Amino acid sequence: MDKKPYYITTPIYYPSNKLHIGNAYCTVITDILARYKRMRGYDVMFLTGTDDHGVNIEERAKAAGISPKEFVDNIICGENGIIDLWKMMNISYDRIIRTTDEYHVESIKRIFKAMHDNGDIYKGTYKGMYCTPCESFWTESQLAEGNCPDCGREVKEAQEEAYFFRQSKYAEKILELYKDQPDFLQPQSRMNEMINNFLKPGLEDVCVSRTTFSWGVPVDFDPGHVVYVWVDALNNYITALGYENNEHNDFDRYWPCDVHIVGKEIVRFHSILWPAMLMSIGVPLPKKVFGHGWLLFDGEKMSKSRGNVIDPIVLVERYGADAVRFFLAREYTFGTDGNFNNELLITKINSDLSNDIGNLVSRTVSMVDKYFAGTLQEEQESSSDMDTELISAASNLHELYETHMENFAVQNALAEIFKVTSRANKYIDETTPWILAKDESNKTRLAAVLYNLLEVIRICTVLLTPVMPEACEKILVQIGIAQLEDAAGLSFYDSVQSFGLMPKTITVSKGEIIFPRFDVAEELKALGEVNQE
Ligand code: MSP
Repeated sequence: MDKKPYYITTPIYYPSNKLHIGNAYCTVITDILARYKRMRGYDVMFLTGTDDHGVNIEERAKAAGISPKEFVDNIICGENGIIDLWKMMNISYDRIIRTTDEYHVESIKRIFKAMHDNGDIYKGTYKGMYCTPCESFWTESQLAEGNCPDCGREVKEAQEEAYFFRQSKYAEKILELYKDQPDFLQPQSRMNEMINNFLKPGLEDVCVSRTTFSWGVPVDFDPGHVVYVWVDALNNYITALGYENNEHNDFDRYWPCDVHIVGKEIVRFHSILWPAMLMSIGVPLPKKVFGHGWLLFDGEKMSKSRGNVIDPIVLVERYGADAVRFFLAREYTFGTDGNFNNELLITKINSDLSNDIGNLVSRTVSMVDKYFAGTLQEEQESSSDMDTELISAASNLHELYETHMENFAVQNALAEIFKVTSRANKYIDETTPWILAKDESNKTRLAAVLYNLLEVIRICTVLLTPVMPEACEKILVQIGIAQLEDAAGLSFYDSVQSFGLMPKTITVSKGEIIFPRFDVAEELKALGEVNQE
């Protein structure tokens, strides 16, 4: 049967600095959602990329004495650059786009021309405050005490010829869209913000070309103008599928996009300018935009200029990609802001991974190893009094998990899994296998207890796979699933709906500790040293 397509995107990142843990947060959660959909049998197209153009990059490259292309190439493809980071973090993107890719540039020229030809782009004058030494336009609000925010010198009122997009024309249609599709923009609070702050007060036309710098897509019918970065950037979501180019040809398969995952500060571009441009060129609208919150550091947004960035590479090297991915997904509510700190990260790794699931796996596998020489027996004696609660919690888990995952509430899906692992640890204390093991006549009961535990671990592990792909694979090996002939049958999503699918005579394989414990004080000291380098 043909798989159902599912198209999910991250924003394309500015390659002006190395990425920090806040950028990684957005991509990790999107990756988890993409892996979840794949696990459920969808044909997923997960797109990410980089937003290579703009005056900021042009200036930084100039300061570094290299060309803008060299500058962005370094940050994207250089050692420990963006591509390396995504590899280290196990980001399973299906396609990656750069706005400097030739096919994208050509498509942007055509899209811009189409909007011009249909009358939605017109020539006008861009008025602003101008800093002559810096050759930069600024809006009133960008000024620093009335002066240029870059060099602090005096600015003058100035104007520049520019093209404008008739965004104003689409205000009503966008309000209608929000009304007809109340889940177009989530969480709901973001939609109210758009309506009250931007749509109700009246939409302005947007300046979509500049002449004072050249690092961008040229307007081919008016040399000297370059296309505004957001027009260039937003259209990546369709050019990457082959819209107005022959590089790819799956636009018909994947568009309209199922969900654009974006940070809260760029919701405005995705839920107003983007639909307006799509309406202008006659392309159907994406089904959903999800605006997530920020990771804050001591209550402030992480940024290079504030000097409070956390390098995800350092964390992944110390704790592994799985633990960092897990922490980001488990600790923060995807739609709202949350505070990042290293202590929280290490404590969470210790409590949830090492103490909770890690302990459950190692205790269970060790007991099967010790009491049954690694292979459980066919004869097992269940106890309705003791087993029912655990079995029903594990059997119902997938429904709760699905509901949360479908609502982008990864943190809640994980919370449900950890309720079950905690319940299983408690079950060990209640059933006291070490006491059962003392008397040969309890062997059948002991086998059932350990079997139930292995089944709980199997179900939880399959559901955790999108979050911690590597560790989950190791767990499946330890509990003996991976070695079975029908291993796939038991590690696929469908199998989590039934308790008791594992063969009764499963053979476990004791292995390394999957989630080691860390000494919080030592780690904090080491991270402090690493970050100061
Ligand atoms: N290039 C634009 C996006 C164009 S999409 C057509 C851009 N790039 S960015 O590199 O500045 O940001 C990329 C994403 O990282 C955004 O969604 C942004 O919200 C997210 N984050 C940047 N800092 C963040 C945190 N501290 N916390 C969470 N996400 C943050 O915007």
